[in-house]
Amino acid sequence: MTQTIPAPFPALRLRRTRATGWSRALHRENILTPADMIWPLFVTEGAGVEEPIPSLPGVSRWSVDGIVARAKEAVAQGIPVLALFPNTQPERRSEDGAEALNPDNLMCRAIRAIKDACGDDIGVLTDVALDPYTSHGQDGLIDDAGYVLNDATVEVLVGQSLNQAAAGADIIAPSDMMDGRIGTIRQALEAESHHNVQIMSYAAKYASAFYGPFRDAVGSRGLLKGNKKTYQMDPANAEEALREVAVDLAEGADSVMVKPGLPYLDIAIRVKQQFGVPVFAYQVSGEYAMIEAAVAAGAADRDTMVLETLLAFKRAGCSGVLTYHALHAARLLNA
Ligand code: PBG
Repeated sequence: MTQTIPAPFPALRLRRTRATGWSRALHRENILTPADMIWPLFVTEGAGVEEPIPSLPGVSRWSVDGIVARAKEAVAQGIPVLALFPNTQPERRSEDGAEALNPDNLMCRAIRAIKDACGDDIGVLTDVALDPYTSHGQDGLIDDAGYVLNDATVEVLVGQSLNQAAAGADIIAPSDMMDGRIGTIRQALEAESHHNVQIMSYAAKYASAFYGPFRDAVGSRGLLKGNKKTYQMDPANAEEALREVAVDLAEGADSVMVKPGLPYLDIAIRVKQQFGVPVFAYQVSGEYAMIEAAVAAGAADRDTMVLETLLAFKRAGCSGVLTYHALHAARLLNA
């Protein structure tokens, strides 16, 4: 970065370019548009069902027909991608998460319904990890001690990825943090002729306290014993995040994600500067809940705060952001 040698005051007055709206517009370095947003949606069984999620005020689970309606709203507002997460019925959860491999599971039905209704007007990103399907709430297979097994889990994740790709998923997004899964999934996609199915790797995903409302949404909070610290990253680490990203890129990730979002903007900008690849950030459920709590407490104006936080991701070098505020923000930007 080149910095010009500053002229001394008063030759230089940095407030000069801020004095009017037209000048602030002229000098604006980053712009947020609806095309920067990926909208996460929670799918539930049934027809005509909307289930509000109390810890995520303003966000609901929708049955497949409702998901299609949301997809059409997203298209109308210029949101390019939806991210889907299933709330699997308790009787379909098991120790090994086998429901993830069912070609007729909730996720696959939602993917097909969106693709039937909207085609390539919108992309569908699907989460690869077993936590919405396991009876223990961990993202993979566990041994007797509860340790999440790496290589055995990767095998299942490959099957899950192929299952989603066959249903029409456009972007496979592994959020499980197993070692070696990107390369194995990539090989399998190539072998099955899914050449244009992208992989957006949750490359730097931290063992965070900000995922609570999400676990309510997919129904895994009550099931999960312990934590995910043996696979998700230590919040203290930054260098390790760069290694995670390097590995996933070498294995064939098309883009990488940093998660959570705002507390980890330092990671996002470092990944962008070091690798120059498309970087995405996930403004996760706990971050959404914090904003909504601040609004409910009268501490902030929702619209301004939402747009400011989303713009921060652009400033940090992100190509886009997964946010539960996507539709609201897109409407504000299109107004
Ligand atoms: C799990 C997964 C999580 C999220 C996305 N995928 C939670 C977790 O790791 O326990 C969190 C998203 C959010 O909090 O909004 N595979």
